[in-house]
Amino acid sequence: MVEPKTQDVMERIVSLCKRRGLVFQSSEIYGGINGFWDYGPLGAELKRNVKDYWWRVMARLRDDVVGLEATIIMHPKIWEASGHTTTFADPMVDCLLTQKRYRADQIEPQSGVAFHYAGAEEGAAAAGAKPKSSSEPYSFLTPDAKHVERARQAAKTFYKQRGLADPRLLGERSETVENSTRYNPENGSLLTEPRLFNLMFKTYVGPVESAENVAYLRPETAQAIFAQFKTVAEVSRQRVPFGICQIGKAFRNEINPRNFTFRSREFEQMELEFFIRPDEAVEAIAGSVARPEKPGHPGAPQPNWGWEMWHKYWVEERLAFYEQIGLPRASLVEYWQKPEELAHYARATVDILYKFPFSKRNAKGELAGEELEGVAARSDFDLSQHQRFSGKSMTVFDEELKAAWAKLDEAKKAALTQRYFENRRAYLVKTSVPAEQAERQAHVEAAALANGTYVPHVIEPSAGVDRLALALICNAYTEDEAPDEKGKLEKRVVMRFSPRIAPVKVAIFPLLKNRPELVAKALQVRDLLRPLMTVFYDDGGAIGRRYRRQDEAGTPYGVTIDFDTLGEQGEALKDTVTLRDRDTMKQTRVKISELPALLLEKVR
Ligand code: GAP
Repeated sequence: MVEPKTQDVMERIVSLCKRRGLVFQSSEIYGGINGFWDYGPLGAELKRNVKDYWWRVMARLRDDVVGLEATIIMHPKIWEASGHTTTFADPMVDCLLTQKRYRADQIEPQSGVAFHYAGAEEGAAAAGAKPKSSSEPYSFLTPDAKHVERARQAAKTFYKQRGLADPRLLGERSETVENSTRYNPENGSLLTEPRLFNLMFKTYVGPVESAENVAYLRPETAQAIFAQFKTVAEVSRQRVPFGICQIGKAFRNEINPRNFTFRSREFEQMELEFFIRPDEAVEAIAGSVARPEKPGHPGAPQPNWGWEMWHKYWVEERLAFYEQIGLPRASLVEYWQKPEELAHYARATVDILYKFPFSKRNAKGELAGEELEGVAARSDFDLSQHQRFSGKSMTVFDEELKAAWAKLDEAKKAALTQRYFENRRAYLVKTSVPAEQAERQAHVEAAALANGTYVPHVIEPSAGVDRLALALICNAYTEDEAPDEKGKLEKRVVMRFSPRIAPVKVAIFPLLKNRPELVAKALQVRDLLRPLMTVFYDDGGAIGRRYRRQDEAGTPYGVTIDFDTLGEQGEALKDTVTLRDRDTMKQTRVKISELPALLLEKVR
């Protein structure tokens, strides 16, 4: 399953998704809508299983994480505080010939010979009339100088679009171009200069479409967690370190949605904001701050963990999560962002990548991977921003810190105060608070630390449900050969989903549908299992065909009710069924009474 899958396999995967009702275009009967996808019966189950497992692992099985379900439309000030209204933008360019839009940072650099034109005038102007003209420059990139005619044709089309019926090109000159991103890789035409395009979907709250009623569909679920931090902390009686998690829809008006569901305009996120003490508070309480010393999981959380240990912990927890739902470690990449790639508030970010069939390849020809999740150490930036913009305190009172501080010697107090002061001043200055005011405020905040009060820092593991579902589909897709009823080998597609997230856990087959005793028993087994897991009952066609259909749906187990079940071969086999394993195709005889526990153990 780890072997790299190629682009043509991707086409087969997309076609299977449509055929088997995993994923298909939204609004398909109207020709679809770019960047929006619907999940059919199997896809809906798959997504639900992914979200349920995430929620179980991240919230229910932990004492230190609680959940939130906030609205999609929130007060627009939230997006000012988070920086989304000003900085959540991608550079975009348009093709001057086709008007198609691209993300400027995704244009592949190209080399060749560019033909430049200074403008054009009407070739056949009426006698005596001043010829109509355009002085707009235009360029076209060709592989080499031989292709000048192609450039001239493109330029004529360009000037025709500007109102000249029969353009005569002016000022043609050529130039060798190396690694330029100014030209459309699809047709060679010049692109516009990059312009920034804000990715948030805008709407109006209420009947009046005025500036004061503007609101946005949330581009991430995280900000609601920050905005509700104080309320959730209070009502849940949680103390730092603790986390708040949320699963929900997010919307981004992506310039160029692509790679099936990978970059969509409407998608779901699973985000955890895990709030921790600032390192100065940890040092005051624990005497020192532990730092990651060796690779791998750092073990159970400890009181002397600062942000680096917590960050490492969450990276490892998240990698383990992906393995638990069937993505092999070798299909994942742990990518530590370089300092120049980090968001201005981030101290470290690890992107967890999956090697999708459409991923770019590195110099060795291996799939480089595409982002499934980012695990970011975001300092105290987010809560500080909401504190500044809302005027409401986002600090917590930490009794342990206050007690520990009182026992520190003066030198330690001074050193920790100075470090905290410098960090707070740096944040305030970066966010354009005037220097003097920043200095004053940072002093006040450093003095508050000595009293046990601070704005918590945060570690954020932020994952996309749809990207993960796509990774699971790509990983599960396999083609092999299996014997049909007559023993002849035939090609079969098997979706090798982990039983934990497989859309259907078990299929129930009566051997023959025209034998009421078999059907009655099979329905009994279905009703026994149905309250515990997703069950699919199928009595249509030869048993081999039914197995194939379930292999393609990724159902890990099949239960067949035959004449032995009815006791026709004696008491020993009465009330037993065959349990077929999708991957090994092995069949074992199991008592019906033992099926629930046996299957639950495998699919939990
Ligand atoms: N709160 C941080 C945040 O939103 P992000 O890297 O922009 O960070 C987190 O998004 C995750 O959301 C990504 O790793 C990805 O899985 C998913 N995601 C982001 N944009 C997406 C899109 N256009 N389509 C599908 N999933 C997307």
